[in-house]
Amino acid sequence: MSEHYDKINVQGIDIALSLPDEFNFQWIGQQDVMDQLLAAWMVIDERDIPLNPRLIGKPGVGKTTLAYAAAKRLNKEVYIYQCTMDTRPEDLLITPVVDKNGGIRYVASALVTAMIKGGVCILDEANRMSEKSWASLAPLLDTRRYIESIVAGVKIQADPEFRICVTMNDDASTFEIPEYVHSRLQPQIYLDFPEAEEEKRILKENLPFVDDYIMNYVVQFLQRAHGANEIYTIRDGINIARYAAKRIKKLSGNKGNIDNLIREAIVMTLGEEALSYVP
Ligand SMILES: Nc1ncnc2c1ncn2[C@@H]1O[C@H](COP(=O)(O)OP(=O)(O)O)[C@@H](O)[C@H]1O
Ligand SMILES: [Mg+2]
Repeated sequence: MSEHYDKINVQGIDIALSLPDEFNFQWIGQQDVMDQLLAAWMVIDERDIPLNPRLIGKPGVGKTTLAYAAAKRLNKEVYIYQCTMDTRPEDLLITPVVDKNGGIRYVASALVTAMIKGGVCILDEANRMSEKSWASLAPLLDTRRYIESIVAGVKIQADPEFRICVTMNDDASTFEIPEYVHSRLQPQIYLDFPEAEEEKRILKENLPFVDDYIMNYVVQFLQRAHGANEIYTIRDGINIARYAAKRIKKLSGNKGNIDNLIREAIVMTLGEEALSYVP
């Protein structure tokens, strides 16, 4: 096992831990959803336990960013688990790995590491996960707060400082989640696209080196698209502005029409039909 990974011993079994995710994500604007999330995680009495909030919204509205930034406000380590359709219960919990001597060693997932270390786990895009995987989390997500790894034969109790947040895309790419899981993932916090001023601040935070002219153009484009209930996201906007800035830079000395280059970046990011929203 590589030396810089922590490991712990649980009920006589050595388990290697994962490393936390380190990003520089700032949350801009929309204080209400931040407050809702932090309130859900708060513990207000010794008989109280934290809730397991669910962030819901279209792709790119900022769900992962919000969960990460909220965890960092609490000065906690963050462990992001990317859920997929193929996520198996053992992937979520503890996986056996063959080591170089032919023995088995056990590796804790991001989730179980967060439980042990009292960090925050973000189960990202959890709507993709099958019922079988959810079932393995049932005791964690109610007052019991433990998981049971069949593979390693251990039961692990979450540290009292452990918090979890689940993000779900508001689209059709999902399994139907059974009721007993729904009821364990409350409250539901809905995210929507920001107003123009805020959206511009978000773009600037992500791309501080990009020209105001490009930013304003892209924000106007995004706001029109949001207004028409189109699913173009801030991430699309960031990609457009980033690519437009590169194109303009590459062609410097022979700029031609900047608007044309931004429009081209829009088409190359989102397709021809996106041109109906250009300013
Ligand atoms: N309020 C916000 N503050 C800062 N960045 C934001 C905000 N909303 C969206 N973003 C940016 O938009 C992009 C998409 O956000 P992300 O959290 O990945 O969305 P989601 O998880 O909902 O798909 C990221 O680059 C993120 O930094
Ligand atoms: Mg996300």
